[in-house]
Amino acid sequence: MEVIIYPTKEQANQAAADFVASAVVRNPRIVLGLATGGTPLGLYENLIEKYKKGEVSFAKASSFNLDEYYGLPADDKNSYAYYMRENLFDKIDIELENTHIPNGMAENPKIACEEYERAIKASGGVELQILGIGSDGHIGFNEPTSSLSSRTRMKTLTRETIEDNARFFDGNPEAVPTHCLTMGIGTIMESETVVLLAYGKSKADAVAGMIEGPITSMIPASILQMHRDVKVFLDEEAASKLKLADYYKWVYSRKPHPDW
Ligand code: PGA
Repeated sequence: MEVIIYPTKEQANQAAADFVASAVVRNPRIVLGLATGGTPLGLYENLIEKYKKGEVSFAKASSFNLDEYYGLPADDKNSYAYYMRENLFDKIDIELENTHIPNGMAENPKIACEEYERAIKASGGVELQILGIGSDGHIGFNEPTSSLSSRTRMKTLTRETIEDNARFFDGNPEAVPTHCLTMGIGTIMESETVVLLAYGKSKADAVAGMIEGPITSMIPASILQMHRDVKVFLDEEAASKLKLADYYKWVYSRKPHPDW
């Protein structure tokens, strides 16, 4: 893992956006894996700015989102389908028909998840996967003790995730759906490159476990230690429990070339 620590999340978001935009410029037909939640909003804002300035186009790109709440239709303002249109898709030139999000209203979620896996494969696979991390160490909605080789499937959210996400539901945990459809950890691990963002002190324990702890399904993100190409963008607060923070900064400051 390459651990990149910036003093602020604004700086980390800019650096992450530079990285993502240059990947899209190099490969306009890129297949992106996209995340929701509070964390990627700043990255998306930066990408929208770059699109508006004519620095990047998503016209030929396609995307697969990590997850969706089960039981929320795409026009519900708390669905991730709505979130993606609101925070990214409607503000760039990506073709909506090239974007994919698990269907939270699927009559048969099992079949819908299998179809999602097939669609990812048919696209050639996710080339650049954006990830956040839950305060409980989840990636996508793969909660602690998820199989580290899982595929897209229905999952039940933990109480911690429901409490964390209640802020999007007027602070009411009872309003948060208890189930979701999420790419599996095995699915995520097949992406070519991962960009994981984590900001704020509420993520510090999960980040330390992911980077420096043992690989364990208790912190699903720790499996990323086995992924060949992961960049982790952090602010100081999220990095505050890393034992080797100074080392990561030293390594990054001495990079001979940004691409190497
Ligand atoms: P957050 O969620 O960005 O809303 O903190 C992160 C995640 O659950 O992956």
